[in-house]
Amino acid sequence: MVAPHGGTLINRIVQGSERESLLHTSRSLPQIALDPWALSDVEMIAIGGLSPLQGFMGRADYDSVLANRRLATGLVWTIPVTLSVTQEHAAGLRGDVALASDGQVVAILHVEERYTPDKTREAQAVFGTTDPSHPGVKRLEATGPVYLGGQISVVNRPPPATFLPYRLDPADTRRLFAERGWKRIVAFQTRNPIHRAHEHLQKCALEMCDGMLLHPIVGETKGDDVPAAVRMRSYEVLLANYYPKDRVVLAVNPASMRYAGPKEAIFHALIRKNYGCTHFIVGRDHAGVGKFYGTYDAQRMFDEFAPEEIGIIPLCFENAAYCTVCASMVSSKTCPHPPERHVSLSGTKVRELLQAGTPPPPEVSRPEVAAVLIESMRTQGQPAATTR
Ligand code: ADX
Repeated sequence: MVAPHGGTLINRIVQGSERESLLHTSRSLPQIALDPWALSDVEMIAIGGLSPLQGFMGRADYDSVLANRRLATGLVWTIPVTLSVTQEHAAGLRGDVALASDGQVVAILHVEERYTPDKTREAQAVFGTTDPSHPGVKRLEATGPVYLGGQISVVNRPPPATFLPYRLDPADTRRLFAERGWKRIVAFQTRNPIHRAHEHLQKCALEMCDGMLLHPIVGETKGDDVPAAVRMRSYEVLLANYYPKDRVVLAVNPASMRYAGPKEAIFHALIRKNYGCTHFIVGRDHAGVGKFYGTYDAQRMFDEFAPEEIGIIPLCFENAAYCTVCASMVSSKTCPHPPERHVSLSGTKVRELLQAGTPPPPEVSRPEVAAVLIESMRTQGQPAATTR
């Protein structure tokens, strides 16, 4: 089984007498209300999805990640994981604080430091831009001006409200892979419904691997991405109709989407290593948004590190589409025909078709998936993007 990043699978969920005593002291601690984004970070840290992180980053790790794409220890890490608060909140804090959601204490943050980040520098380092039309930059600007760093201890993990059968922690997926005897496990990150191009990548990888972890992000995504509940239905119908049952594990990734392109591709890969995967699919414009990143920038960033520093193998794919001459899914690596012979629709076009109740061509999207998306638009009027 592949080792977690940094060697140990972190578990910051406390139990028994330690939990009782922290719960007791939490009653007299100042409280910080977690927004859904921060709550998903707390959960990811607690279950080891972000191993080796044991809490929110302090200044040394934060600076090192921005400047060198590494934690202060030298371990590769590309995205800061921080907890922001207002000046007023920060001013009154001494020692531990209780992190709460919906009025319920979730965790204790053992505050080791507070510091003032340079958001412009952070945006430039993480997103490669300070343009506020980038959703990651926009969100960063809206967060509080002070960061708190320190380990967390989760005392009350909120029970999942959604996707119950698909809530697998890294320890669960690792156990499952071992039970199934899988050695080569490919992970697929997604924030979209799965169209034929995605399916092509997955099935190429499945030819080489023992199994796949289909691991959609269900934390926060930007407003015009397809809602997670709709996507989950689309994954279920796709898997039921087109994949061998015993070769795919569908589990949700509680993390929020950063839209940090190349840096998020590395971050996504390290998370999937923590879940026990050995391979990771990186296609065109991974975790990209708009025109902020080059088509293959994310793939190239993997080459900037020694393979053993990343510890999970990227499987890089060219832009894929259906070729009417080859009569199969292809890319420029496998097909000599001009783009006019390829069936590819823009995200806007696919959305228009779905909104009109017309399924996109089967070369773009499986009819069962299109039916789920059309139905969701009919009932919820979702103005959702479906491809980029
Ligand atoms: S992402 O933000 O999670 O990257 P998406 O869910 O669309 O977005 O993509 C999931 C994975 O499929 C990413 O690795 C992405 O690069 C890849 N991908 C999406 N569409 C294509 C395509 N047409 N050809 C090749 N790779 C693709």
